[in-house]
Amino acid sequence: MPDASPVSTPYRVLPPNDPRQYDDLAGEWWRPDGAFAMLHWLARARAALVPAAAKPDDLLVDLGCGAGLLAPHLAGKGYRHVGVDLTRSALDQAAAHGVTVIQADATAVPLADGCAAVVSAGELLEHVPLWRRAVAEACRLLRPGGLLVLDTLNDTLLARLVAVELGERLPTVPRGIHDPRLFVDARELVAECARRGVPLAVRGVRPELGGTLTWLLRRMRGGADRPDRTEPRIVPTRSTAVLYQGWGRRGG
Ligand SMILES: C[S@@+](CC[C@H](N)C(=O)[O-])C[C@H]1O[C@@H](n2cnc3c(N)ncnc32)[C@H](O)[C@@H]1O
Repeated sequence: MPDASPVSTPYRVLPPNDPRQYDDLAGEWWRPDGAFAMLHWLARARAALVPAAAKPDDLLVDLGCGAGLLAPHLAGKGYRHVGVDLTRSALDQAAAHGVTVIQADATAVPLADGCAAVVSAGELLEHVPLWRRAVAEACRLLRPGGLLVLDTLNDTLLARLVAVELGERLPTVPRGIHDPRLFVDARELVAECARRGVPLAVRGVRPELGGTLTWLLRRMRGGADRPDRTEPRIVPTRSTAVLYQGWGRRGG
């Protein structure tokens, strides 16, 4: 089982899940084949769960928005995209991609109850020590009928092995970005959302294997960041034991 000892980034030694890692990696966010490559693939899959806005200027609140990787995939859907994150260096990049940004903790968001048609929490909850509070905020922000979409890592041994022991040795996930003690049990998440008025459906997802191998080989051969690149698709899988998506609408 992985421990939570400090990790050495190319820049400095920081504890696992320390948010300062995002400052050290600020130049990686928008590199399609950089350290956050898989976040691009996941953002595309998450956005596919979001229908077009019902009304002009409907608000989509993107909790833990990072550098705004969701933004290109929402283009044309008609939302005002508001991003909330702790990390200033990431928010500056999100703003440059058209996101209205708020520097705040996802567990205490300075926005009104029921303001959002959609709340997104992509690859956030597994980084938040008090993830239930972030879920409470997500549900509080949703208007009745509003849609919650999220993806996160399950609190299982398999997730620790695949996402940390294997994933963080591949160029798709930065080393030390996760503290597996924070991974989120899917059943507990479903129960918490239900308590907050959002019945959540969940399904396991993973990057398609062939596309990921092609991507890794091309990257090894130095074909990184080519504009004609194709990125691996995120596909459903039967098990939620590693990575899973959730979606559900707030009851009236
Ligand atoms: C793995 S990144 C995901 C970013 C983005 N959702 C995406 O998928 O591209 C996690 C993000 O959550 C942010 N974060 C971590 N803890 C947070 C908290 N308590 N409140 C707000 N943001 C947080 C980090 O700064 C980082 O930008």
